[in-house]
Amino acid sequence: MGKIIKSVVYSNFEAIQSIMELYKIEVFDLDCTYSKGAFWKNLPIPIVRSDIEPLDDTILKADSRNLPFENDTLHSIMFDPPFNIGGKNYKNNKEGSSIISKRFGAYASFEELKEHYKSSLIEFNRILAKNGILVFKCQDTVSGGKNHFSHLFVVQTAIELGFYPRDLFVLVANTRINPYGSVWKNQEHARKYHSYFLIFEKKPCRVDYN
Ligand SMILES: C[S@@+](CC[C@H](N)C(=O)[O-])C[C@H]1O[C@@H](n2cnc3c(N)ncnc32)[C@H](O)[C@@H]1O
Repeated sequence: MGKIIKSVVYSNFEAIQSIMELYKIEVFDLDCTYSKGAFWKNLPIPIVRSDIEPLDDTILKADSRNLPFENDTLHSIMFDPPFNIGGKNYKNNKEGSSIISKRFGAYASFEELKEHYKSSLIEFNRILAKNGILVFKCQDTVSGGKNHFSHLFVVQTAIELGFYPRDLFVLVANTRINPYGSVWKNQEHARKYHSYFLIFEKKPCRVDYN
């Protein structure tokens, strides 16, 4: 028997390599949140790379909610959107604060995050062929003193829209940026040392979660 692909992984590389092997993806058709393409170090680079803020001219400028593809044409999509809620003005906050939001991008509110995720899922459902695979990297976040389990919203919404949640990988992080800098005194929730790679297939859900 070959090596066992495990649901817990310790790097983006290990996650994506496991997903490609298990789901027989030789190369992704699209990475629509490409950024610097850190995901693809030592892996095949997706055929089309796009981002709303492309960093060079090999990357297509496109919003994940409105992608330039015909209906039912792609076989695999990678989606790694921002996950943090930074408030309206995080970009103007003083140096040393809003570090995570500034580095990975952020939403003004959870409503804005949900709108981006849902509209993108609708678009992926339109452009993926039957049985096409969507990989959605997501991380839960704390905002306004409350845990926001974004992965719950993603799974629920994807099922409603006609995806089958086929698999889930947990990526464990060794280190994290301290979100509160040196002023972190009262911790109210477990600091998240994990994120998810959720694997959806475009087909009716095969398990009844109602
Ligand atoms: C967490 S980063 C992705 C990092 C990337 N996976 C890598 O390996 O470097 C999130 C990216 O999503 C992009 N983004 C945010 N909103 C978007 C949208 N509506 N459409 C497309 N890309 C978007 C940001 O510009 C940013 O580059």
